Amino acid sequence: MNQKISNLRNEAIGNILEAKSQVELEKLRILYLGRSGKVNQLTKEIPKLSFEIRAEAGKLINEAKKSIEQAFANQQSTIKSQPSENKEWQDVTAPGVSPLIGHLHLLTSAVRKISSVFEKIGFIRVRYPEVEWEWYAFEGLNMPESHPARDDFESFFLEVPPSPKLGRIVLTPHTSSGQLREMERTSPPIRMINIARCHRPNWDITHTPTFHQFEGLVVDQGINITHLKGVTDYFASNFFGEGRKTRLRPFHFQFTEPSFEVDINCPLCLGKGCRTCKSGWMELGGAGMVHPVVLKNGGIDPNKYSGFAFGWGVERTYLMKSGLNLDDIRPLYENDLRFINQF
Ligand code: FA5
Repeated sequence: MNQKISNLRNEAIGNILEAKSQVELEKLRILYLGRSGKVNQLTKEIPKLSFEIRAEAGKLINEAKKSIEQAFANQQSTIKSQPSENKEWQDVTAPGVSPLIGHLHLLTSAVRKISSVFEKIGFIRVRYPEVEWEWYAFEGLNMPESHPARDDFESFFLEVPPSPKLGRIVLTPHTSSGQLREMERTSPPIRMINIARCHRPNWDITHTPTFHQFEGLVVDQGINITHLKGVTDYFASNFFGEGRKTRLRPFHFQFTEPSFEVDINCPLCLGKGCRTCKSGWMELGGAGMVHPVVLKNGGIDPNKYSGFAFGWGVERTYLMKSGLNLDDIRPLYENDLRFINQF
């Protein structure tokens, strides 16, 4: 029996040392150390031996098993540390696979660019509540209760008890509410740029229920329309590019007097008139001289100070800059990477 054990140990260790791969090694582990392997088969013979030699044979077989296990572990780490001939071949000259790198959302970039253009001429970026009292959104801006924008169909009103002084609560339908907030926060000279989310119950190709506006407000002594025109022209050439300028077209807003629609000259014909723009001009947004009632409501003496304000849609302004000549602003909110990754 002792000889049998010794032979088995030598045979197993010899074979293990010759194994060249983990697969080969695993086969040998099953052959010798597995549940029905050779070591266990020999162990099963021990009870059949005579009592005197049984103990010694048991001891020997345990030692043999340990030696085989040790040889197995050694060979396993030897194989692991050796470079395998079967390892996958790598072509280091092959073109790399570029990882997908994200970028800021188009609207985030547009908001940052717009603020930086205005910050260069001393405007201060501010933010005011997106959920606002009716006073700041309408009443204080000289928009009486009968104004259509204060209808339930035109703005999102919250169903909470109104304040006797400030009225109902509304999701800001425009950034103009920031005018009164800024006048309350500080005193002239004021140069504010308020860029914020606005909400109106609209959905068509040029209107979404949530959108962004940027609102400029300048209040100081002696401010007049030429200052407004200077700033809109500055914005046109710095945001849209050289050769771009604006024109003011008479319009009506409750909170400005006189009021204007600001148009920008077409990028293709620069104002001469072409197939794309027809008239040479494209509409940018509203503007005007701050109404004396609004200055008064903001705690500013209209006999001493005057100001101008403008409020334009970020989405529309961005699409006009992108040169896509695209009216549909909805893709900006649809998270379709085929659209977003074009920019
Ligand atoms: C206003 O909101 C005025 N508060 C602008 C203003 C400010 C005038 C200061 C004078 C002085 P209007 O409703 O026209 O004006 O909106 C301005 C711009 O916001 C529009 O030209 C359009 O670009 C954008 N806009 C309005 N509603 C939506 C909407 N539902 N979706 C996307 N953009 C919108």
